[in-house]
Amino acid sequence: MPQVEGEERLSGDPAVAERLASIFRVSEADHQVSISGIHGLHPYPGRMHPMWARRILESTREKSVIMDPFCGGGTVAIEARRMGHDALASDINPIALRLARLRTHAGPDLELLRQHAERCAEKCTKRRTTPFSELASGEKRLPRHVLAGLISLRDEIEHVDHPHIREVLLFAMSPLIDKFSSRADRPAPRVPKDAVPRHFLERVTRWADAYRDMPDVPNSHVERADARWLPWRPGSVDIVITSPPYPGVLDYVEAQSRRLRWLGRDASARGASRKEIGKRSGNDDWAESMRPAFQQISRSTHPESLVYMVVGDGVSRGRPVFTDRALQTVTRQLPLKFVASVTQLRPHFHQQTSHAFARRPRGEHLILWRRTGTKQTGNGNRTTKHGRIKKHR
Ligand SMILES: C[S@@+](CC[C@H](N)C(=O)[O-])C[C@H]1O[C@@H](n2cnc3c(N)ncnc32)[C@H](O)[C@@H]1O
Repeated sequence: MPQVEGEERLSGDPAVAERLASIFRVSEADHQVSISGIHGLHPYPGRMHPMWARRILESTREKSVIMDPFCGGGTVAIEARRMGHDALASDINPIALRLARLRTHAGPDLELLRQHAERCAEKCTKRRTTPFSELASGEKRLPRHVLAGLISLRDEIEHVDHPHIREVLLFAMSPLIDKFSSRADRPAPRVPKDAVPRHFLERVTRWADAYRDMPDVPNSHVERADARWLPWRPGSVDIVITSPPYPGVLDYVEAQSRRLRWLGRDASARGASRKEIGKRSGNDDWAESMRPAFQQISRSTHPESLVYMVVGDGVSRGRPVFTDRALQTVTRQLPLKFVASVTQLRPHFHQQTSHAFARRPRGEHLILWRRTGTKQTGNGNRTTKHGRIKKHR
C-alpha cells in the first residue's frame, strides 16, 4: 500500500478523472484507517487501501451488489458490508479466503471467544515442555523461547473444539510470527517469556472489538474461484471494485507459505499457486491471463454496471508491462467502455528489472470502465434485484 503520493496523470472524461484522482489520494489520516479496526488485524500482501473502496462506495446510494474477483484479505467486501451492500468476493489463495471470511462474516460468541483465549494463554504459560511440532524444523528466525511459546500456544488452539473460535484464535496468533521474527533488515526483537500469551490476548481483544463494530447485516459471499471462471449469476453484479495481481511483483502463495504452515496446511495451496496470474517466478503473458478474467467480469455485470480496478505496472518476461495500456487492448473487444483513469507514478523497487522503466516511469492506476450493451429482459438471465445470487455451476 503506497504511503507516498506520486505525480498524477489523468485520462478520459476530465470530471470523472478528477473524481478518481481524489479517491486515489491518501493522507496520513487515511493511513490510520488501514492499520486500525478490522483492516489492521492481520496482514495480507498487496492489500488495497481501504479508503479507495470506501470513497468509491460513498457515491453509491442504492443498496448494490459489489464484486471483487481478486479479493485477497477482503478489503473491498469489508467496506461494502460496512455500508450495507451485498458483497461477492472470490480468490484462489487459501489464506485470503479464510481471512476474508473471518472479516466479513458475523463473529462468534464473544464471551466464549474470551474464555477460550484466556484458557489457551494460561495453559501455554504453565507448560513446562513444548509439544513436538514439525514447525520447529528449519525455523531459525524466532528466538528459541518465543518459538516454544508459539508452538505451545498453537497446540492449545488446536484443541479448541469450536471451529469458528479456533479460526479467530489462529488468526490472532498468526501476526505474532512476523512480530517476533528476525528480518533481513532487523534482528529478532528481545522479548520476555510471557510476550507470546500477552500479545495473543491483546490481539483477541482487538478481534472482539472489531466484531462489536461490525454492522448487523448478512455475511458477504466468499468463494474459492479462479477469476477466469466466476461462480456468480450472470448479470447480477452492479459494481466491480478489484485489484488483480500486478505483473511480476509477487507470488502470493509462496510469499505466505510459512504462515500457511502455522495456520494449518491446505491441500488447495499447490493448485492455487499454479493458477496465480502474473507470478514473479512465472512466465505467463499477464494481459492474456487477464483477458478471460475480464470476460467473466463482463458476464457477471449488466449494462450500466461500473468496473473500478486498481492495478500497477510491472515486469513480465523481462519486459515492462504498462497495465493501463495492456488493459485497453484487452477490453476493446468486450462490452466495457473506458471512462477515465488516474495514474500515480510509483518507484520500482526491484533493482534487476529497474531498466524496464527507464523510458516511461512505472505507474499505479485507478481505472473506470462502464459496462455497455442492452438490458436483457424476460429471459431470466439477469435480475435487477440485488442479493439474488445463485451459484452458476
Ligand atoms: C493485489 S492482491 C488483492 C488484494 C486485496 N484487494 C486486498 O485488499 O487484500 C491480488 C490477489 O489476486 C489473487 N489471485 C491471483 N491469481 C488469481 C486468479 N487466477 N484468480 C483469483 N485470484 C487470483 C491473489 O491470491 C491475491 O490475493
